[in-house]
Amino acid sequence: MSNRESLLSLNDKITAAVTLLKAGKNVAFPTETVYGLGADITNVSAINQIFEIKGRPIDHPLIVHFAEVHLLDYWAIDIPDSAWLLAEHFWPGPLTLILPKSSHVPLNVTGGQNTVGLRIPDHPIALALLKALGENKALAAPSANRFGRISPTSANHVYEEFGSEVSMILDGGPCKVGLESTIISFYNSEAILLRPGGIPVELLEETLKQKIKLKENLNTSLRAPGGLSSHYAPVTALEVWPTEYIQQRAQQLNKNGLRTALIAWSGSDYFSQVTNENTHLFLMPADPIGYGHQLYATLRELDQDDFFCMLVEAPPTDPAWLAISDRLQRASYKTSIHL
Ligand code: TXA
Ligand code: MG
Repeated sequence: MSNRESLLSLNDKITAAVTLLKAGKNVAFPTETVYGLGADITNVSAINQIFEIKGRPIDHPLIVHFAEVHLLDYWAIDIPDSAWLLAEHFWPGPLTLILPKSSHVPLNVTGGQNTVGLRIPDHPIALALLKALGENKALAAPSANRFGRISPTSANHVYEEFGSEVSMILDGGPCKVGLESTIISFYNSEAILLRPGGIPVELLEETLKQKIKLKENLNTSLRAPGGLSSHYAPVTALEVWPTEYIQQRAQQLNKNGLRTALIAWSGSDYFSQVTNENTHLFLMPADPIGYGHQLYATLRELDQDDFFCMLVEAPPTDPAWLAISDRLQRASYKTSIHL
């Protein structure tokens, strides 16, 4: 961002962003989960540009962001009561609902599907931007990263990804949550988890007073978000190991003179014995909220260092860690090395 831009007041920046969006340009903006790359959903060339800049296949649907819960039925039709309940309870917040799209949502935004992903983000800048854009307007906003890579959790990350390819980056500081939204779809009005994320599934279940099924347990053709196994991935190889094996793996890499980043959460005492000139310890918070908040920034930072490998201590199996386990599993997909 130029210095001149950083001297503008927030209101001026929002006004400038709206002008750019209305002219068919892309603007990156902060949300509580990760930064999004926004475009007016009614502008065909702006939407095309998003797919192009990200290098994303055109059948991969974008989430539509808007500002007012009561406008849910402007963007979606056949909305089950359970969807209204979740929307009213959790929006603004890190929850995306997949619903049959209304005629106001163009097919190029949904990758040709008749469903749409909808979300009201919980970030003052995102909400101010959406409100300034006008009622009955919405922004398609995928995470502001190249396809398959780590989502950005700061304005700097967006700049590292795209430089001046993006018309403007609104800086809202580091994202509070740091992991993408939880995505819920509906099958015969029943809620189905498509992507674990910022809101733990138990909280949604408490509100719905029913269990949420995993997509994998259903015999349906529901589309899986981030359907490719390799996603959210750093360039450096990443391996996830249970606590009892990770030391052995670190020692093996060290014997071969390979520089390794050991990403642990369960305490430095256990791991300090294996640190040496090759093996560097990075201790993460031992709670899922703190860990989730730091995960992407940590992976990005370590990716820029000259490590042969990142060894990640497997997170606890507790459901509160589900989104973190999911992202680590996808980030480690390309690893083929085993003990
Ligand atoms: O937290 C988030 O959700 C962030 C912020 C910017 O809002 N956005 C985000 O967007 O993660 P993106 O495009 O990186 O991921 C959206 C996921 C994709 O994997 C896509 O397949 C899925 O949502 N999705 C969107 N619309 C869908 C639909 N109609 N059916 C199934 N999956 C859908
Ligand atoms: Mg993404």
